[in-house]
Amino acid sequence: MFYDLARRFMFTQDAEWAHNFALNNLKRFAHTPLNAMWAQSIADKPVEFLGLEFKNLLGLAAGLDKNAECIDAFGQMGFGFIEVGTVTPRPQVGNDKPRIFRLPQSNAIINRMGFNNKGVDYLLGNVKSSKYNGILGINIGKNKDTPNEKGKDDYIHCMRKVFTSASYITVNISSPNTPGLRDLQYGEALDDLLSSLKNEQDDLSAKHGKHVPMLVKIAPDLDQIQIEQVAGSLLNNNIDGVIATNTTLDRSLVQGQKYCDEMGGLSGQPVRQKSTHVVSELKRLTGNKLPIIGVGGIDSAQSAKEKLNAGADLLQVYTGFIYQGPPLVKKILTGL
Ligand SMILES: Cc1cc2nc3c(=O)[nH]c(=O)nc-3n(C[C@H](O)[C@H](O)[C@H](O)COP(=O)(O)O)c2cc1C
Repeated sequence: MFYDLARRFMFTQDAEWAHNFALNNLKRFAHTPLNAMWAQSIADKPVEFLGLEFKNLLGLAAGLDKNAECIDAFGQMGFGFIEVGTVTPRPQVGNDKPRIFRLPQSNAIINRMGFNNKGVDYLLGNVKSSKYNGILGINIGKNKDTPNEKGKDDYIHCMRKVFTSASYITVNISSPNTPGLRDLQYGEALDDLLSSLKNEQDDLSAKHGKHVPMLVKIAPDLDQIQIEQVAGSLLNNNIDGVIATNTTLDRSLVQGQKYCDEMGGLSGQPVRQKSTHVVSELKRLTGNKLPIIGVGGIDSAQSAKEKLNAGADLLQVYTGFIYQGPPLVKKILTGL
């Protein structure tokens, strides 16, 4: 009811303005009685994954709370885990506005934000001052003006910074909005990046006496051979898990709709099948050796089940949550 009204208002506004308006209020009112607008109690359904205990299997996907401003409020909504970021070493403004577009006919979004964020130090300040004590993933990326050959240094810098604050770390190499980033998903570039990050993870584990799992987030637009190569590379480098998938460049399911030709990544219902396909291929290729978080077009208990049946261990939502708000969390968790 509350979200219906809030959504009705916010959907009359520019998408990015509405996004910032919502985040500002979530942050401002998280520790006041007004949090009753979104707080909900949902019975725990604990899941063990990567050696961590999650209170349930549904998480908030990366990109919604890039600077970790609102983790307390998202925790109050009943998510089993929250992934913040993508964060880069240095703050950056991202692409020119407008850069988020709603395609309501398909319950979809196109975005070309370009990793706008306030930098890793700012994010860590927010994590430290939050009261949230659930599972927190921190999603890391590279600055736009860092050339791909030096991209590794940005990931390592962020990994070192967030290591002791994150429950798990996600290496994002699949955003379509940072030029060349997706090239890191292929061949030698991927092996080189993953082996360096694995070494760094091992060093940091030894130094801090704790293992922080590292997951890699991949695109839905990989062909069969590329999926096989990525799966092989993740296994060869002993990567802890994979997040499938990010947004798609494919516009075939939104042809003719307003904004369908905007540049950027498409998310929501039109990416659902593609990401489910990637999940099922990863499962088929890796068996039980590679834990999978499934994300892409989940907006109901049924689409959540589809990802689980394809082989996902945990789930995340972003676009479905924009369209349906906190009730979606309850709807999925009680419907599974
Ligand atoms: C506006 C917007 C911004 C996003 N930013 C990020 C990001 O910074 N890092 C990332 O890994 N994924 C990002 N994503 C991708 C989502 O985390 C998710 O993988 C994708 O949207 C598919 O899930 P969905 O269909 O539930 O939205 C973003 C998605 C949207 C719509």
